[in-house]
Amino acid sequence: MSQRRLFVTTALPYANGNFHIGHIMEYIQADIWVRYQRMQGTEVHFVGADDAHGAPIMIAAEKAGKTPQQFVADIAAGRKPYLDGFHIAFDNWHSTDGPENHALAQQIYRDLKKAGLIATRVVEQFFDPEKNMFLPDRFIKGECPNCHAKDQYGDNCEVCGAVYAPTDLINPYSALSGAKPVLKSSEHFFFRLSDARCVAFLEQWTQDGKLQPEVANKVKEWFSVRTNPDGSTSEGLGDWDISRDAPYFGIEIPDAPGKYFYVWLDAPIGYLASLKNLLDKRGQSYDDYMADPALEQYHFIGKDIVTFHTLFWPAMLKFSGRKTPDNIFVHGFLTVNNGEKMSKSRGTGLDPLKYLSLGMNPEWLRYYLAAKLNARNEDIDFNADDFMARVNSDLVGKYINIASRAAGFIAKRFGGRLGAIAPDGEGLLDLLRVQSEAIASLFENRDYARALRETMLLADRVNEYVDANKPWELARQEGMDARLQDVCTTCIEAFRLLTIYLKPVLPALAASVEAFLHISPLSFADANQSLGAGHVIGDYKHLMQRVDIKQLEALFEAPALTESAQSATESIAPGGEDIAPTIGIDDFAKIDLRIAKIVHCEAVPGSTKLLRLTLDVGEGKTRNVFSGIASAYQPEDLIGQFTVMVANLAPRKMKFGLSEGMVLAASHADEKAQPGIYVLHPWPGAEPGMRVR
Ligand code: 2FM
Ligand code: ZN
Repeated sequence: MSQRRLFVTTALPYANGNFHIGHIMEYIQADIWVRYQRMQGTEVHFVGADDAHGAPIMIAAEKAGKTPQQFVADIAAGRKPYLDGFHIAFDNWHSTDGPENHALAQQIYRDLKKAGLIATRVVEQFFDPEKNMFLPDRFIKGECPNCHAKDQYGDNCEVCGAVYAPTDLINPYSALSGAKPVLKSSEHFFFRLSDARCVAFLEQWTQDGKLQPEVANKVKEWFSVRTNPDGSTSEGLGDWDISRDAPYFGIEIPDAPGKYFYVWLDAPIGYLASLKNLLDKRGQSYDDYMADPALEQYHFIGKDIVTFHTLFWPAMLKFSGRKTPDNIFVHGFLTVNNGEKMSKSRGTGLDPLKYLSLGMNPEWLRYYLAAKLNARNEDIDFNADDFMARVNSDLVGKYINIASRAAGFIAKRFGGRLGAIAPDGEGLLDLLRVQSEAIASLFENRDYARALRETMLLADRVNEYVDANKPWELARQEGMDARLQDVCTTCIEAFRLLTIYLKPVLPALAASVEAFLHISPLSFADANQSLGAGHVIGDYKHLMQRVDIKQLEALFEAPALTESAQSATESIAPGGEDIAPTIGIDDFAKIDLRIAKIVHCEAVPGSTKLLRLTLDVGEGKTRNVFSGIASAYQPEDLIGQFTVMVANLAPRKMKFGLSEGMVLAASHADEKAQPGIYVLHPWPGAEPGMRVR
């Protein structure tokens, strides 16, 4: 068979935060596959990139006081320690804001337009009149039209689960400025996925047996029925809105001033852009590479982004005259200690950099995740006890143990020189060799869990051989030198074979084994070879430590308790959010904070969130202020108390009346994860009207 050529990617992470353990799991899954392929002599280009565009990143950059370009560059600068730390060997890491992506996205768009698959339509959307921009659904909040919960997002209610259009929200407001959004029309560009050509192609492409069965089944539903933003359903594939209006951090749509590609249009094109960037750097032709009919293209992704990769992406490629992916490999989510799912924006539980900073071996994690990963898109759980058991009992107890039991005798007694394979060891080695194709095919099919299970069963056989022959006893017996050398040689040869099977998962360990055995890098074909009598190996140094329970305890300890670990990990966001950009004293002086006495307080009929406060700020009259603190205080608890208010905030008309200021209260950024609202309370002696400065 001629050499295979593969182009492999993982999903491109948004450049608005550091990697969390969910990212690392995906990269490890792909990296194992790539390393396996290379061990089969396959040529692989394995690339990643930051997904740089979109409104959330633009807004986060503004909040951080940076340009979007600077913001994503700063995030990109933090990627290396994670990738190197976990031995994830991308050939290239690029950005969707790179020039290659701008050019490719614009060309693909032009090609789709030429194919008659771009349409325009006027769309009415919420617009923030203060920020002068159309608001993405996530940045519009208001009251749920179904259960009337307050402060719900524009696309669905987190309280009752209802799905609706942002225009259905009661009393909508912009989460960016607080302003009341207005409806405004603008022309949008659509990719005509409902075109009969697209539908026919996608029905075939998604159902021809390449996709994982559970993925293909899910995709099938989208051809018959689809849910609209307002919760209603329609038949078949809908057209896809691919444009956004300025201001937007993205790629300009050709011949359409002020219009940008929606981030999800240019994100997957970033796969090609990163590849092109790599090939350009190597002086190779991207066009020639992509034109090779034998080239195979694969994307590893999570199950939340299947639509983009099984409908939009293949259709974009197909109808712009490009090669379509050979497969999309979908994995499930990772939970930690039976905890909650890794959210997109904030991983929970297991901080990858903290893991490394505690001196924990990255290959323990690679081994553990591989032992749980298969070709289905099921969720998997990182469980600390299970982690320790698998690493200590299986990896170290079964595999490493073989070398440590045999290598010392070869070094001390025979100057490192191997003998012959013991006659009773031939069968054992045959058993190990015969499994090589089966194990290879388990890697090929991404069933790493079974590949490792089979490998550990073989390690059991080898340990049984050691136990039956007891080299430590042979070593004490007169005239048994040759037998000792041959038994230990058999063990070393078995260890070498097991190392081949584990190498995709444990590349650094395999490199240490290769150095100790004095051999060149192992490939799968080496399973048919043997070291041979007379080969001299090096001194055995312990290859891998066991996991110490203290490390796991430290890993899951709250950050505040582990100062040393804390300083070595990511910067800490106090109260769940980064400190806001620095302001000058003049900015602060604009905010007039005053001591206020709560002279009266009552519930607000029709609102579960608000309390109505009557405040005395020493003005000779009282003020009416609504405050979202009903979940934390009974009205009677507050009457007569002193607090701090913003006295010069523009009055705001609310559904229940005019609010003439704002009371200050502390809360965690993630009110769900850490509930609690704490109204500020001055020390005794402060009087109504005193300024806080
Ligand atoms: O869901 C996400 O995190 C996206 N940034 C993935 C993009 S994958 C590809 F299309 F770039
Ligand atoms: Zn609701």
